[in-house]
Amino acid sequence: MTSCIKRRPSLLQHPLFFIILNLSVLATGQDQFVYSGFTGADLTLDGVATITPNGLLELTNGTVRLKGHAFHPTPFRFGDGTSFAASYLFAIYCVQFHLCGHGMAFLVAASNNFSDAMPTQYLGLINDHNNGYATNRFFAVELDTNWSDEFNDIDNNHVGIDVNGLDSVKSSSAGYYRDDNGNFQNLTLASYQVMQSWVEYDGHSKQISVSLAPIHMAKPIKPLLSTTYNLSTVLTADMVYVGFSASTGSFISRQYVLGWSFGINRPAPAIDITKLPKLPREGPKSRSKVLEIVLPIVTASFVLIVGSTVIFLVRRRIRYAELREDWETEFGPHRFSYKDLFCATQGFKNKNLLGVGGFGTVYKGVLPKSKVEIAVKRISHDSMQGMKEFVAEVVSIGHLQHRNLVQLHGYCRRKSELFLVYEYMSNGSLDKYLYDQGEKPTLTWAQRYRIIKGIASGLLYLHQEWEKVVLHRDIKPSNVLLDDELNGD
Ligand SMILES: Nc1ncnc2c1ncn2[C@@H]1O[C@H](COP(=O)(O)OP(=O)(O)OP(=O)(O)O)[C@@H](O)[C@H]1O
Ligand SMILES: *[C@@H]1O[C@H](CO)[C@@H](O)[C@H](O)[C@H]1NC(C)=O
Ligand SMILES: *[C@@H]1O[C@H](CO)[C@@H](O)[C@H](O)[C@H]1NC(C)=O
Ligand SMILES: *[C@@H]1O[C@H](CO)[C@@H](O)[C@H](O)[C@H]1NC(C)=O
Ligand SMILES: *[C@@H]1O[C@H](CO)[C@@H](O)[C@H](O)[C@H]1NC(C)=O
Ligand SMILES: *[C@@H]1O[C@H](CO)[C@@H](O)[C@H](O)[C@H]1NC(C)=O
Repeated sequence: MTSCIKRRPSLLQHPLFFIILNLSVLATGQDQFVYSGFTGADLTLDGVATITPNGLLELTNGTVRLKGHAFHPTPFRFGDGTSFAASYLFAIYCVQFHLCGHGMAFLVAASNNFSDAMPTQYLGLINDHNNGYATNRFFAVELDTNWSDEFNDIDNNHVGIDVNGLDSVKSSSAGYYRDDNGNFQNLTLASYQVMQSWVEYDGHSKQISVSLAPIHMAKPIKPLLSTTYNLSTVLTADMVYVGFSASTGSFISRQYVLGWSFGINRPAPAIDITKLPKLPREGPKSRSKVLEIVLPIVTASFVLIVGSTVIFLVRRRIRYAELREDWETEFGPHRFSYKDLFCATQGFKNKNLLGVGGFGTVYKGVLPKSKVEIAVKRISHDSMQGMKEFVAEVVSIGHLQHRNLVQLHGYCRRKSELFLVYEYMSNGSLDKYLYDQGEKPTLTWAQRYRIIKGIASGLLYLHQEWEKVVLHRDIKPSNVLLDDELNGD
């Protein structure tokens, strides 16, 4: 029994199993990575490089003459015959195309210590005395947005393959060759448009190829740049670091990486474009255009509209202000609003003046809602004494109804004015017929008889027929008003 067990070795104890296990970890975890946005990414950052709260890798922060670097935290084994492939999405913001910082670079280097490198035209890769030195031990693809004659730059918008220095091994204006007709299509690096770049190195043929394209476009078939270079002679170290470098010059610029993937001896994994972080709004330039012009106009018009509305409402309140007291509630139905009377008489215009009497002026009006014609007697008064009694009397007179009495519809009060609202008598008062002979026709005897009968009938009603006895005490021609059929008072 026991000898039987000894003869069957456990698979877990077999030395070959551990070799297989280790290789599989390497294959899935340590020879590739992909960042679709950098939220939570553990990158090695230096200089002004940061990961923004929404997951952008910001290589420089918009301050002049600074550099920034970002590296994948762990190095990769690199030997003769090692191939690699990288792809990344980036965007470069400049104040203006012609006022631009210096650019950025994708970097594969023997070290991740670039503390001796300088910003501005040195791109954070070299300094002013070590351009091209073999001790630099880096390979870079520069996205250069500033022309610098020190390094024989071709223009201020180019892509270059750099080895140990900034005199590019090969460079080209930024752009791509179209798949359909092979024509060159140029791109502006510092346009703040998201673009994708691919960098590939074949460890056997030593072929380097670099491509560029707008976001959402597949990698162009024909690369923008391709050259042969034995990078084993450059990256003379067992391990290499991969990352980015960027620098600003005299002008504000910002370089962003939105997504990044890398593979050793395998293609770079696909970046999930739908997960990319959003770029911040354009810097001061767009702000100056959109906010500094539109915002003040919007704010000013808003303040103006609110202000004039308030003034309008306040003025309306003052204009139509009335005096109302508790005791008046019982006369409510007989109360007219000043606004209605104001509108009816078109603001007490002179053209609506019917006449001037002992106590006040009388205006013709048409009530805005009911279109009823009225005569408004406007009485100015100084003291409030007896106002309650007066209004009570007005209202009680308002209850008098007789075809030969002018109907009193109601009243209205303001601070020092009282308004009485009467039925409108289209033919005015009798005095006009008797004394102003020029204007009005002479009354016939039949008309005079009818007027006298009307007055008598009205007085009879006042003196005897109504429940209260009312004495008129002021019968005179100007108090006899005639309707359109010339019926009296
Ligand atoms: N309801 C009305 N319809 C048409 N015109 C009117 C009306 N009320 C008054 N008027 C006109 O306005 C004028 C002035 O009227 P008011 O009653 O103030 O005058 P008065 O009778 O001369 O004065 P008072 O009676 O107060 O001494 C009248 O002469 C008349 O021409
Ligand atoms: C950029 O970083 C530098 C150094 O950390 C800092 O002095 C500067 O204020 C930053 N600029 C902006 C715009 O945040
Ligand atoms: C390049 O940078 C230098 C110094 O930083 C600046 O003076 C020059 O105007 C820049 N050129 C362009 C085209 O942006
Ligand atoms: C980086 O290099 C410089 C000198 O080149 C050295 O002083 C510094 O200590 C290095 N930094 C690290 C973190 O190794
Ligand atoms: C490149 O773009 C510029 C404007 O940005 C344009 O004037 C020029 O004609 C373009 N060249 C090619 C080859 O498309
Ligand atoms: C590339 O360089 C390495 C290191 O110098 C060398 O061993 C190798 O033979 C070179 N390969 C080719 C194809 O030149």
